[in-house]
Amino acid sequence: MVHNGIIENYMEIKEFLVSQGVRFRSETDTEVVAQLLAYYYGKTGDMMSAVYRVLDRIEGAYALGILSADMPDSFIAARKDAPLLLGYGEGCSFIASDVTAIIKHTRDISYMEDGEVALVKAGAITVFDALGRQMEKEHSFVDWDVSAAEKGGYAHFMFKEIMEQPEAVRKTISPRIKEGRVAFEELKLEPDYIRGLKKIFIVACGSSYHVGVVGKYNLERLLRRPVDVMLASEFRYADPLVDEDTLVIVISQSGETLDTMAALRMAKSLGARILSIVNVVGSSIARESDDVLYTWAGPEIAVATTKAYSTQLVLLNMLGLYFGDLMGSVSPAEYSDIVWELLDLPAKMERVLENTEEIKYLASRYFNHNSIFFIGRHLDYALGLEGSLKLKEISYIHCEAYASGELKHGTISLIENGTLVVALCTYAPLFEKSLSNIVEVKARGADIVALTTNSRSRELSKTVENILSIPDTHMLLQPSLGVVPLQLFAYYVALHRGCDIDKPRNLAKSVTVE
Ligand code: G6P
Repeated sequence: MVHNGIIENYMEIKEFLVSQGVRFRSETDTEVVAQLLAYYYGKTGDMMSAVYRVLDRIEGAYALGILSADMPDSFIAARKDAPLLLGYGEGCSFIASDVTAIIKHTRDISYMEDGEVALVKAGAITVFDALGRQMEKEHSFVDWDVSAAEKGGYAHFMFKEIMEQPEAVRKTISPRIKEGRVAFEELKLEPDYIRGLKKIFIVACGSSYHVGVVGKYNLERLLRRPVDVMLASEFRYADPLVDEDTLVIVISQSGETLDTMAALRMAKSLGARILSIVNVVGSSIARESDDVLYTWAGPEIAVATTKAYSTQLVLLNMLGLYFGDLMGSVSPAEYSDIVWELLDLPAKMERVLENTEEIKYLASRYFNHNSIFFIGRHLDYALGLEGSLKLKEISYIHCEAYASGELKHGTISLIENGTLVVALCTYAPLFEKSLSNIVEVKARGADIVALTTNSRSRELSKTVENILSIPDTHMLLQPSLGVVPLQLFAYYVALHRGCDIDKPRNLAKSVTVE
């Protein structure tokens, strides 16, 4: 048995099985399911009905793949609250949690729903509903390019995906800008509903949450309405103030993150409309949302997200522009300015990717540090959250992101001779404030790596020796360029440390457990 998920009542079932004389070989909840199946199979002599009895009894989240020596030409798949898809090949069949695992073999797939059970044979899959009745499944065709899920000569998927960002961002932006206007033809939200919105919640996990933090700043500025951002795992238990007048924007690369999915369902049950920003077409979050905006990042394989983050970010900013225009809260001049800069972002990202020498040098100089702080204000703080997460995920260095203004409330006590501080100074309106924070930490002996824009780098070089410089763009879009050197810095540091960059320890690409 292969099991993805958690069986919540496994202790109680285990006690029952032990009382029936079953001997266990492990401490896992997965073995409990396998043993329970063996128990019912022993009683019924029929594998399918034994599976249904097991599903009746277990509680929790699971995607199951079941093999038995008594059914040598087939296996059984079942799911509840964990992703599972079926792949139809020529003379072969597949089950997988994530479509990227099988697109090399087939792009003809179906998504299993909760309670369904599939009997899978080579080249033939039969699906049954929760009551055991045979049913027809809708097929989806994944139009991702197969080569996009291969390394194509790069040492790591992460590096390849960093390099693919200009193209992914271009593909996400350009079909949605028509004659200088943001056009979301796929949106069903009525203009009157958008104008009447009282509140927006952005809910997500991990890097998608960091996109939401940028979104809070930018959407509040563009819409002049309250925008809250919350981690999905917090939101679902926080009894949040959500009702029919609230729009909940859910952000997820995979479309399968369990906490995000649970938050979505809860918000929906409270009457909110759900608009999701998702990368995987047809994924659970996409299917359960009222509206979906797809990021066209293509398959992302490395656990640490890069191109999905970048495409989510531009899409959320475009949404802010679109809503702000309908609400009349963004001036025509700023609107055109941002649209113009959005169109220019891919070319500017390419320029950042062409100038990596300084990043490589700084990575070689600082890779053996044990603790690194990222500081910044406003959008630079949001950017610091992502930069620090990238570095800790793949290099295993302890990293923290702090809002610079908070330094004096605690963190500054951790700064000593040689502590590395990555100071983010790309948000133009607060440049001077950020500069004074740099002076503060430098005075305590910190080594500084500063990230700023080309227009400010000369000024900064009077205070800081190590400067990474990115092209200027509209201030609200600056994180889209700022994140690229931080991704590369994390990558090169991890490379020096000999880490498993694409598959960091203890982490998963899609987190389908709570
Ligand atoms: C995992 C991944 C992260 C991702 C997070 C949320 O932790 O490693 O890269 O940001 O899940 O995933 P989602 O698919 O919902 O964006």
